[in-house]
Amino acid sequence: MALWGGRFTQEADAKFKYFNDSLRFDYRLALQDIDGSIGWAKAITSVGILTEAEHQQLVAALKELRAEIEPNLAIILRDDAEDIHSWVESKLIEKVGDLGKKLHTGRSRNDQVAVDMKMWCKAQTLALQERIRNLQGKLVEVAEQNQTAVMPGYTHLQRAQPVTFAHWCMAYYEMLDRDYSRLTDAFKRMKTCPLGSGALAGTAYPMDRDALAVDLGFATATRNSLDSVSDRDHVLELLSAASISMVHLSRFAEDLIFFNSGESAFLDLSDRVTSGSSLMPQKKNPDACELIRGKTGRVFGALSGLLTTLKGLPLAYNKDMQEDKEGIFDAMETWQACLEIGALVLEDIQVHTDRTREAAQQGYSNATELADYLVAKGIPFREAHHIVGEAVVYGIRQRKPLEDLTIAEYQQFHPSIAEDVYPILSLESCLEKRSAKGGVNPQRVAEAIAAAKAKLENS
Ligand code: ARG
Repeated sequence: MALWGGRFTQEADAKFKYFNDSLRFDYRLALQDIDGSIGWAKAITSVGILTEAEHQQLVAALKELRAEIEPNLAIILRDDAEDIHSWVESKLIEKVGDLGKKLHTGRSRNDQVAVDMKMWCKAQTLALQERIRNLQGKLVEVAEQNQTAVMPGYTHLQRAQPVTFAHWCMAYYEMLDRDYSRLTDAFKRMKTCPLGSGALAGTAYPMDRDALAVDLGFATATRNSLDSVSDRDHVLELLSAASISMVHLSRFAEDLIFFNSGESAFLDLSDRVTSGSSLMPQKKNPDACELIRGKTGRVFGALSGLLTTLKGLPLAYNKDMQEDKEGIFDAMETWQACLEIGALVLEDIQVHTDRTREAAQQGYSNATELADYLVAKGIPFREAHHIVGEAVVYGIRQRKPLEDLTIAEYQQFHPSIAEDVYPILSLESCLEKRSAKGGVNPQRVAEAIAAAKAKLENS
């Protein structure tokens, strides 16, 4: 039976009931709904609605219910109820009879769903931070093993300057570090408890809402009941943190797809994370990475969907807000899976260092070095840039890299180019010179790895 049947003389249309019901997705909030109810039972006991004995009995029944479903929330789906709140209440009534009907005194499903969602978001935030740290750990591991793996760095997907595979790994470490800190920030704003805001105007029972908040793991109660029942900022913040992080994961996946391609052949992704073609026996497709890149779209979709849903809503609660759930549930599951699969992809990645070095040697990625060399000889940078441009054109015509041009050949471009040019054109020298903070100098990269390891150990 619905929770609100008294005013109605006709049954809901079956099609409408299915349209309106949310149990098939909000069953995921069951533990939060029970925990919130345990907190609420205490709060209404404090204002004399329940005797201490009734309170004890309700809490025992709620805990029993919690233990029954915790191993597998999906068993809830066997039942038919409008939403998780009605489901918990009906189960409670099955267990303790009429006493179960007292629990909803002073509470509305509006503040109830608000607190359930906020508690769920808090738990997700912590779980995701753990997954982020795990992927960062894998990146640092792979970085550590590949500190001498020189490879071309790109801009515009053109070979630009040599970098190391370690430096590449640490770039993604940094992105994930910001993703982690975005969650830390969002979590700070999840510390206020909306329960006790009633349907919209506040609860009519003079309870200590701050004490209730603390019981439920929050710092304090929210300050305005209208805002409390209509606020879904925490859902939006998680979705935007997820979207930004998925941008990073998608670019990570895209780089790996490119590195694994026959064209670059910088690395091999393991058989554990690739799959074959049903037609072409030679193929090994980077499906894990493609799916990370592909799933990014649905996470963005959840964010823009909820922003759009909320933008025109009048205060306070509206049923539109039930649409917050499927998007965030799917987005958090997707984000978490992508973080896990990203870590798996890194687990037995094979970097072909001969091939990465060979590629770094092609493509004139030491041209900047030659320009800097001329600058050191007193030639203004703009002019040096032009001279090197001419040398590169010459090299391309002769099919020779810069380090293979003779001094006689160099003299056509500028008389000051001498024997001492060759050492500065080596890949090692290119790396070495970038020793300012954040650069690819191997010592700097080693320090970045050490600092990251220390940070991961402490969190
Ligand atoms: N299933 C609803 C939701 O997720 C719960 C709140 C219902 N409140 C109401 N007044 N009908 O938003």
